[in-house]
Amino acid sequence: MTASIELEHVSAERDGQAVLDDLTLTVGAGEVVAVLGPSGCGKTTLLRVILGFVVPGRGEVRIGGVPVSRDGTIVVPPEERNVGVVFQDLALWPHLTVHENLGFGLAARRVPRPERDDRIKGLLRRVGLGDKEDRRPGDLSGGERQRVAIARALVLEPAVVLLDEPLSNLDVSLKRELLEVFGALFAERGATVLYVTHDLREAAALGHRIVVMQQGRAIQAGTLELLRGQPATNFVRDLVADLDGTGRRA
Ligand SMILES: Nc1ncnc2c1ncn2[C@@H]1O[C@H](COP(=O)(O)OP(=O)(O)OP(=O)(O)O)[C@@H](O)[C@H]1O
Ligand SMILES: [Mg+2]
Repeated sequence: MTASIELEHVSAERDGQAVLDDLTLTVGAGEVVAVLGPSGCGKTTLLRVILGFVVPGRGEVRIGGVPVSRDGTIVVPPEERNVGVVFQDLALWPHLTVHENLGFGLAARRVPRPERDDRIKGLLRRVGLGDKEDRRPGDLSGGERQRVAIARALVLEPAVVLLDEPLSNLDVSLKRELLEVFGALFAERGATVLYVTHDLREAAALGHRIVVMQQGRAIQAGTLELLRGQPATNFVRDLVADLDGTGRRA
C-alpha cells in the first residue's frame, strides 16, 4: 500500500546545531520526488527523520496522513512506519546470501516460506539477479550490490521508499542503466519515493519533481522546467543552469 509523505515546518538539531530548518515538503502517494542539494545540507538527516531515527524538535511528520512525530514526540515508532530504505552505504549483511538479505525482513514478519521465496525470486529476476541469489554481497560487483539493496527495500512492499544517493561511485553508463531499472520498478509498483542525490542528472532522470535543499531548508520544489524557468534564488538558478533540456549536463 503506497502512502504520501508530509513534513510540515520541521526543525531538527544535531549536537546543538540546526540541521533542518523549518522544512516543509510533500511527496504524494505514488510520486517520485528527488531531493537535490550539496553535501551537508541535511539530506540524510531528512531521511532519518522520516524513518524515525532522528526526532525533530519542532514540526509534524505524516506518512499516509497519519502523524508519526510531532514537536519532539514520537507518535509511531520506526519499526511500525513501513518505510523501505536504501542507505548511502547500502548496509547489506555481508555474511548472508543475496536471497537471505531479502528474506530476513519477510521472515521477521512471518511471511510463509513459499510466498517469501516467490517474492524474492520474482524481484531478483526483475533486477537481473535471478542467477545470483546464493552469492554473498562481497562476491558481487558494485552495481549488483546496488540492485540487491533496492530489491531488499522493495520486497517488503513498503508504504514509502527512501533512497540515499544509492548510485554514487558508479560509472556513468551503469548509473544510466540502473536509473532506468529503478524508474521502471517504481512506476510498476506505483511506489512513493524520496530519492536523495547531489547529482542533477539523477534527480532529473527519476524525479517527477525536484526539491532543492540548502542549509536545512527546502527552498524550491517543482519540475526541472519550473526550476530552470523560474528559479526562486540564485542558488537554484546556478544548480540547474548547466543542464540542457534533456536532463544532461551541457
Ligand atoms: N550524528 C550526527 N551528529 C551531529 N551532527 C551530525 C550528525 N549527522 C550529521 N550531522 C551534521 O548535520 C549536517 C547535515 O548532515 P547530513 O548527513 O544530513 O547531510 P547530507 O546532505 O546528507 O550530506 P552528504 O551529501 O554529504 O551525505 C552536517 O553539518 C553534519 O555534520
Ligand atoms: Mg547524506
